[in-house]
Amino acid sequence: MAKQARVQFPKHFLWGVATSAHQVEGNMHNQWSEWEKAQAKALATQSQYKFGDLPSWPRIGEAAKDPNQYISGRSTNHAEFYPQDFDLAQKMGLNSWRFSVEWSRIEPEEGSWNAEAIKYYKAYLAALSEAGLEPVMTLFHFTLPTWFADRGGFAKRSNIKYFVQFVDKLMNELGTGVRYIITINEPGVYASESYLQGNWPPNVRSKWQAYRVLCNLATAHNRVAKLLRAKSRRYKIAIAKNVSYVYPGDDSWLSRVSARVIQFVEHDYFLRKVMRQSDFIGVNYYQSQRVYGYRVHNPETVPSDLGWIMQPDHLELVLQRLALHYKKPLMITENGVADGRDKFRKQWLAQSILAMQRAIANGVDLLGYIHWSFMDNFEWDKGYWPHFGLCEVDPKTLQRKPRPSALWYARFLQQQKGSHAHEK
Ligand code: BGC
Repeated sequence: MAKQARVQFPKHFLWGVATSAHQVEGNMHNQWSEWEKAQAKALATQSQYKFGDLPSWPRIGEAAKDPNQYISGRSTNHAEFYPQDFDLAQKMGLNSWRFSVEWSRIEPEEGSWNAEAIKYYKAYLAALSEAGLEPVMTLFHFTLPTWFADRGGFAKRSNIKYFVQFVDKLMNELGTGVRYIITINEPGVYASESYLQGNWPPNVRSKWQAYRVLCNLATAHNRVAKLLRAKSRRYKIAIAKNVSYVYPGDDSWLSRVSARVIQFVEHDYFLRKVMRQSDFIGVNYYQSQRVYGYRVHNPETVPSDLGWIMQPDHLELVLQRLALHYKKPLMITENGVADGRDKFRKQWLAQSILAMQRAIANGVDLLGYIHWSFMDNFEWDKGYWPHFGLCEVDPKTLQRKPRPSALWYARFLQQQKGSHAHEK
């Protein structure tokens, strides 16, 4: 703790938490909610085969085998509880909140706009402002209206116009009450899970389709960014890019070249396409990839509940590489750990804070740190069993309870505030 007290972050640094509509709001009707209902049983049955070897299995197994875990349902009912959630976030010392707008709520049928949903997001933004939380708004976070999915979604280039029309309408309604806009969350993850590996709707397994989706998402970002700039110069626009730290595990030629190829294919290829139309880069960092020969082979340390390797200190290297390569400001738009026992989260936070401090000391222009997530929520095809929350959520009452790591983090945030209190 003493070490963190000396950390000096810029005065207007954003200390936030991230969420997405489908994962927290509840009662969704979109491509994902339809898919969940059809897939819940299969996901529960396959869980032992997929996760049975994880060290966490004895703890998570029972939940993972329950089909109800895979249906988002009422979720955390954030759509109703958001004022209380913002209040708690403010009390914890946070000053920012990342969320996504749910396209299927705003435009449930092609060309028909739901005034209630627009009113909801206006009220949502007003509540954020009242709680002193700077909004970071995502326009597409994995979920699609069913009508758009039925038309072929982002796999069809001619469909991009529907997304642009939605953003146009949305921003005309919401106005400039928001400054930081994330057009697309993790384009690479979306293209890969939905169109390459076939794990997510629409369960396609095709390299060609995945490539097309990726290119169309880049075009969608660029077109939306141009539209937003024409509306107001106030907006700061970015992609939230999933990035890992890719490094060779030994000195061999093959490991070094493979690491470079993976880095390019998974990260730089897409970033290059959108950089001209980006004011900053949103960085979603969860894990690193160590490459031996031509394969990723991570060190055998204790993994998170999801089996992901925990190397929070590599965040520094990710930030430095991106800053050097792209010469743009960076914002950590997601970072966190699946840790139901809250055994590693405090350490994760502490190490991430030190990593950011070192990056800033080395000249990285870092706008903020947005943790995934405020509370446990619906983790896509893994359902409710992975717990990423600073707060746990009682499955029956839905009451939020900050975990010990969150209380530690809140004390750190208070110190940060204190260290800036004398500045004007
Ligand atoms: C996504 C989140 C997800 C998180 C943890 C990111 O890939 O943007 O929606 O919950 O990872 O799995």
